[in-house]
Amino acid sequence: MRVLVSGGAGYIGSHTVLALVAAGHDVLVVDDFSNSKPTVQGRLEAIAGRAIPFHAFDLTDVDKTERLFAHEQIDAVVHFAGFKAVGESVTKPLEYYRNNLDSTFALAAAMAKHGVTRLVFSSSATVYGEKAPVPYQEDYEHLSSSSPYGQTKVMIERVLSDVAHISEGWKVALLRYFNPVGAHESGDIGEDPQGVPNNLMPFIAQVAVGRREKLTVFGGDYPTADGTAERDYLHVTDLAAGHVAALEHLDDMAEPARAFNLGTGTGTSVLQLLKAFERAVGRELPYEIGPRRSGDLPAFWADPTRAHTELGWRATKTIDDMCADTWRWQSRNPQGFPDA
Ligand code: WQD
Repeated sequence: MRVLVSGGAGYIGSHTVLALVAAGHDVLVVDDFSNSKPTVQGRLEAIAGRAIPFHAFDLTDVDKTERLFAHEQIDAVVHFAGFKAVGESVTKPLEYYRNNLDSTFALAAAMAKHGVTRLVFSSSATVYGEKAPVPYQEDYEHLSSSSPYGQTKVMIERVLSDVAHISEGWKVALLRYFNPVGAHESGDIGEDPQGVPNNLMPFIAQVAVGRREKLTVFGGDYPTADGTAERDYLHVTDLAAGHVAALEHLDDMAEPARAFNLGTGTGTSVLQLLKAFERAVGRELPYEIGPRRSGDLPAFWADPTRAHTELGWRATKTIDDMCADTWRWQSRNPQGFPDA
């Protein structure tokens, strides 16, 4: 299939571009580079060994989005594009709602106008909110989120599900990611957050490479084995493979829209991840235990059964793989992707 990847210059998007190409699909990317760099294209083309067309514009531009579908042959869409920083979304709610919702509206309208009926959407475990029983299961009904970012994911899942149910032939997979980490085995692409990393793995990686002084562990008094919070970390190449599996499952999917958890089904604590990273680097890394971060939950992980049984997908990589691959990327690219 010829697949449009929105946000394809981003962390998960770029890894999914490579997985789609490796699976034999043609890929084109649209990205406004608001949270990524144009140099990602050259890295992807070098790894893939082929041209990967990039269209640089903001999907909230309805006319440009429609023109892309009018001029390009597109069979399916994998939709990553959107603002994704939880903390930032609390301080800029209107920008998050406008950007994430309007870009999805423009995309869905262009798909409907041009008869594109296959969509894989980048959702998040954050939609389970704060009360869902762990492990999280897709049929949990009380979706919610305490952040505007998470609420955009809840809303977009509902919008796309409603559109799929009234549109002839639409099939939509809603992929709920847990904690994506790691990097492509080449070490040539990886997570490259702008500014101070919000997420744990890139922060540890920047400590290891000398860009940050030390890790602050947000809370050492949680009701967990070692007192630090537990999450379901999954390797970004496993996550990318999950997108290919979902895309290729759509034709066989009975429902117009269906959610799938992409996770390992296992919780790992902050300190366990830190120790695994130290094994990858071969030395201890400086850290201190600090206060809990507002809004964090003690522990959650996925029930990945539906993805196993319906998508034939399973996470394969270990925590040590995730750390070793992250370290290869970060040590070879201490400042992330070059600007030009
Ligand atoms: C993991 C653990 C922190 C940084 C977030 C979003 C979620 C999704 C994935 C988009 C927590 C602790 C972190 C640090 C720390 N993003 N931590 N020191 O919060 O589980 O999920 O990213 O979809 O929507 O909420 O991931 O990596 O930020 O934190 O101790 O410097 O690491 O408290 O327990 P999180 P995270």
